[in-house]
Amino acid sequence: MKIRWRKWLLGTMALGAVCIATLAIAVSYNSPCGSAPPLTGGETMQAVVYRCYGPVDVLKLETIAKPVPAEDQVLVRVHAASLNPLDKHYMHGRPYIARLSSGFFTPTSIGMGTDFAGTVAAVGGKVTRFQIGDRVFGAADGAFGEYIVRRAEGAIAAIPEGLDFEQAAAMPVAAVTALQALRDKANVKPGQTVLINGAAGGVGSFAVQIAKLLGAHVTGVCSTRNVELVRSLGADQVIDYTNSDFTQGDARYDVIVDMVGNHSMKSLTNVMTPDGALVLVGSVEKNDWTAGLDRMFVTFLTSMTISQRIEGLLASIDGPDLATLAEWAASGQLRAPIDTRYSLAQTVDAMTHLETGRARGKIMITIAE
Ligand SMILES: NC(=O)c1ccc[n+]([C@@H]2O[C@H](COP(=O)([O-])OP(=O)(O)OC[C@H]3O[C@@H](n4cnc5c(N)ncnc54)[C@H](OP(=O)(O)O)[C@@H]3O)[C@@H](O)[C@H]2O)c1
Repeated sequence: MKIRWRKWLLGTMALGAVCIATLAIAVSYNSPCGSAPPLTGGETMQAVVYRCYGPVDVLKLETIAKPVPAEDQVLVRVHAASLNPLDKHYMHGRPYIARLSSGFFTPTSIGMGTDFAGTVAAVGGKVTRFQIGDRVFGAADGAFGEYIVRRAEGAIAAIPEGLDFEQAAAMPVAAVTALQALRDKANVKPGQTVLINGAAGGVGSFAVQIAKLLGAHVTGVCSTRNVELVRSLGADQVIDYTNSDFTQGDARYDVIVDMVGNHSMKSLTNVMTPDGALVLVGSVEKNDWTAGLDRMFVTFLTSMTISQRIEGLLASIDGPDLATLAEWAASGQLRAPIDTRYSLAQTVDAMTHLETGRARGKIMITIAE
């Protein structure tokens, strides 16, 4: 009886292992790139698309059908777009868990890019919020194209007077993430000490400025070549990580916002005040399978044994936050440092640049003047 039970258990475990391996192979499988279907007449546009997952050469500049807005959508003529690490995750289809929404084997939506700024070119019948000619910015599928359509509600807002398309297009994902990390997760108060790890990147460069706007004393962490940039964004102190490790210093921080994930949870909380808050935004190394869930699990366990707060962040782009950021930017209180500008035809170069992980502020795509 005992032996039969053991056999049953071993059989079940073997079957489970085979199922998991089969599922893993299926989920991580990249179908070959399909070719573009023939155009069936109607208006066309140029856009960067990807018809399969993979490295940068899956990105192609193609002539595709110009989208037509649905009743609740606006059609936007895109003037500028910016890149985010999010775009490269879509391109690679990794972490694999993201394929639950982006599609198994091949992407369900071929449009590449998220952050856009442009002019409303048409509106659906039920749209009252925007009119043709309005300048708008936000997040939409397929931002690396001459036109996008998106719902007139949600992650879209008007560009105020005094803010240009490029600066607007630099903000949606990165600036909203920085704002939500500092204001909503860390609850930063005037006078607090805030450390931004990854201060020279897209999110970090906004985080330094927003933390200052919230009244904090800000320390930015970056490499030697970016020290002056981070100082120019308003950081009170800059730590060059190539010659100094902030987790070994005597300073204590009320808030740490971490975009890099290169220090253990314990070494970060060791340099925080007893009731400090640690906000985990991103990491350089991402596990293709667990998508950071392993770090979340360690976070959860660690948070039960310490006095500090540890918060994970999944930014959600919305109109009111975009409007807040746009007002700050229009009044000169917030600006995106621009690393490099590429044309739509140079999107592969832009993505290659992003993939180095060495962006200084934002990498831009200029689509129309
Ligand atoms: N949770 C969310 O909702 C959310 C939203 C947006 C982004 N993210 C994640 O946040 C992370 C940052 O995004 P991003 O847009 O800022 O990326 P990014 O612009 O590509 O960041 C590049 C920056 O990282 C810095 N960096 C690299 N290694 C560093 C280190 N050891 N110490 C300090 N800085 C270092 C680089 O500065 P140096 O050249 O000076 O090293 C570079 O300026 C990514 O992992 C992204 O996926 C998460």
